[in-house]
Amino acid sequence: MRGAFVTIEGIEGVGKTTSLDTVRETLGRSGIAFRITREPGGTALGERLRELLLHADDGEPVRGETEALLMFAARAQHLSLVIEPALERGEWVVCDRFTDATFAYQGGGRGVDTEFLECLRDGVQRGREPDLTLLLDAPVEVGWARIANRSHDRFERERKEFFERVRRAYLYLAERNPARIKVIDATQSREAVAREIDAVLGRFVAEWKAR
Ligand SMILES: Nc1ncnc2c1ncn2[C@@H]1O[C@H](COP(=O)(O)OP(=O)(O)OP(=O)(O)O)[C@@H](O)[C@H]1O
Ligand SMILES: [Mg+2]
Repeated sequence: MRGAFVTIEGIEGVGKTTSLDTVRETLGRSGIAFRITREPGGTALGERLRELLLHADDGEPVRGETEALLMFAARAQHLSLVIEPALERGEWVVCDRFTDATFAYQGGGRGVDTEFLECLRDGVQRGREPDLTLLLDAPVEVGWARIANRSHDRFERERKEFFERVRRAYLYLAERNPARIKVIDATQSREAVAREIDAVLGRFVAEWKAR
């Protein structure tokens, strides 16, 4: 049986990377073989594209369309070299950000045309979609406060309104895809968020195994 594809989404600092610890524990306890990866990145070329995307500092404005194309370039590598082969072997793949992030940041945040993004998605993913997405949601200030003493990348230097648009776009995606995207209230304590993720993922594992 092929593995399940799980993605974790949300604006900066809400606790995506932190939640991977809970995911490791829940999947480990269920005896599931899994690999954890991230976007942009996940392959050698993808990590180089990530570097360009997050830290391009030539002073030249970067168009949202350019960002989207680079994101999907990295994603094409990641899907064909890492994600698809692992799923085929029966491993689960857990990805820290995926295509919902492109719709939220480049679509919602930068205003890139949704049809353009859908076209790239369809060409690159050929029907592959995450089976489960955990969307960690919190007001922009909450995430910001949590990463206040970190050095900021090109996105994190954006203004508050940008992230408000990104957050709204994520919530809109969740509304449109309620079966796939589960919204987790990320304003809660670490322990409460971990419990909720464990419960949602645990239920999903049981359903997946029962198919
Ligand atoms: N529920 C929580 N309550 C308080 N602090 C938290 C919570 N979850 C995570 N943190 C802390 O907030 C900071 C950001 O968490 P984390 O790096 O997991 O966020 P992220 O969503 O991966 O951020 P980024 O978008 O920058 O990758 C970390 O210092 C983490 O320990
Ligand atoms: Mg992170």
